[in-house]
Amino acid sequence: MSRRFYLTTAIDYANGDPHQGHAYEKIGADAIARYHRLRGDEVRFCMGMDEHGQKVAQAAAANGIPPQEQVDRIAARFEAMWSKLEISNDRWIRTTQPHHRAGVKALIERIHQRSPDDFYEQTYEGWYCVGCELFKREGEIVDGRCVLHPTRELQWTEERNWFFRLTKYQDFLRKHFETHPDFLRPESRRNEMLALLDSGLEDISITRARLSWAIPFPVASASGETQGTWVWFDALPNYLTDTGFPDGDWEAWWPAQLHVVGKDIVRLHAVIWPAMLQAAGLPLPEHVWGHGFVLLGGERFSKSSGVGLDLNEAIDRYGPDAFRYFLLREVPWDSDGNFSWERFAERYTAELANGVGNLASRTLSMVARYRDGETPVVDVRADAAVDEALAAYRAEMDALLLHRATEAAMGLVRHANAFVAETQPWAMAKEPGRAGELDATLNAMVRYVALVSVLLFPFMPEKMGQLWRRVAGERPMPLIDELPLVDVSGWRVTAGDPLFPRPEPARAMA
Ligand code: MSP
Repeated sequence: MSRRFYLTTAIDYANGDPHQGHAYEKIGADAIARYHRLRGDEVRFCMGMDEHGQKVAQAAAANGIPPQEQVDRIAARFEAMWSKLEISNDRWIRTTQPHHRAGVKALIERIHQRSPDDFYEQTYEGWYCVGCELFKREGEIVDGRCVLHPTRELQWTEERNWFFRLTKYQDFLRKHFETHPDFLRPESRRNEMLALLDSGLEDISITRARLSWAIPFPVASASGETQGTWVWFDALPNYLTDTGFPDGDWEAWWPAQLHVVGKDIVRLHAVIWPAMLQAAGLPLPEHVWGHGFVLLGGERFSKSSGVGLDLNEAIDRYGPDAFRYFLLREVPWDSDGNFSWERFAERYTAELANGVGNLASRTLSMVARYRDGETPVVDVRADAAVDEALAAYRAEMDALLLHRATEAAMGLVRHANAFVAETQPWAMAKEPGRAGELDATLNAMVRYVALVSVLLFPFMPEKMGQLWRRVAGERPMPLIDELPLVDVSGWRVTAGDPLFPRPEPARAMA
């Protein structure tokens, strides 16, 4: 049964270029989106840019350009990067767009109308980290710096702001976590948030005085002054405003099924955002997934701390598909992992060139050589290895354990290559009496290639789309549920260049 699946990623700050960390999140979400399309779901996949706030305004000032020019430039660079990485988002939201600004205003007004007591004015003082765009508590400050942004100066801020009564929603949130155990995953993030709820929430300041690069907070202060909306109160609603809220058929897509975000911003998505929605009387997103970090030499990629390596270079060395595959295979989707050129070279050679690539090229060339390119007609036989791989792949993808799903697919690749090595079809081809056996073997090999191309399609859409067409021609790719029934008998296959050429030794070692 087809169902709607609305999936979002965090929207990135428009203060610098995309790095591996941003890419990891978008690639993972893209694999999920593509998997859901293979399940037959009607997918809406939204990504975008977080363009207001001090961080962006400061970056524009440092570049000597107006903020709008800065965000236009950066948004174009992110969009180009996502298209280079074959990200299949069909929605692109920027928080400076008029419909978003109007939607945020409508949401705040709705909260104000339904529960006027949720907003109150108060003088506040504290250390503000522009890197996080958050006030920091004592435990989050070491040597006078934010632990996440040690290169930035904290700002001492003393002003009268609008507050949101987050404390009012503490019991509601705890109950929601209890009655929806899979609201926030993985388990480690859920435990962190349960501990936070146990330790007690605090109300939050949601406006900034003198912040002009912001959506004006729609409720005027007692002093008559209009303040700028705190950037998170403006950014979180993007998931809702993208559906058209408050106009049109926004309810057709809200609530979202899944928000994919990094572990550093889980609190904002699993505590503050649900409280805002509850205050507005709107349904909560069904699931939030808090992925871990891609690290470089154990440190997190980050613009401000200068930890990084050129993203274009990392993609270009083995191509976008290999880069996607490597990140999702190497960095567990439920925890942190390191990016390293050594591991990349190892996996590329062992799993892509010698694994998938070799299986594809030997299969297609043997069908060409022994059967003129036409897959022999053979009854589909039960194959325990296929059943097991499909069941494991589905279970892991449904649990959003992407790295383990790649392992299930690679298990089938290893099985298929071992099958070829054991059955030795080239020996059968020399004995005319074994023609039937050779037919069955070639048919099984083509079927393995067809299945592998579908299972790995969410991870390597370009190469696996190509591989599917080499075995299946113009036939549409089957849905996941149809895979056990795929019958490749009579399919014309076409051999071609190696999908994953072996790198020159000198380049692989560089
Ligand atoms: N603008 C906010 C998000 C607002 S969502 C309503 C923000 N932007 S960000 O540019 O700093 O980060 C965007 C996403 O990238 C976040 O989910 C963040 O966790 C993720 N990553 C940033 N660095 C990362 C790594 N090194 N590794 C993996 N993801 C990390 O936060």
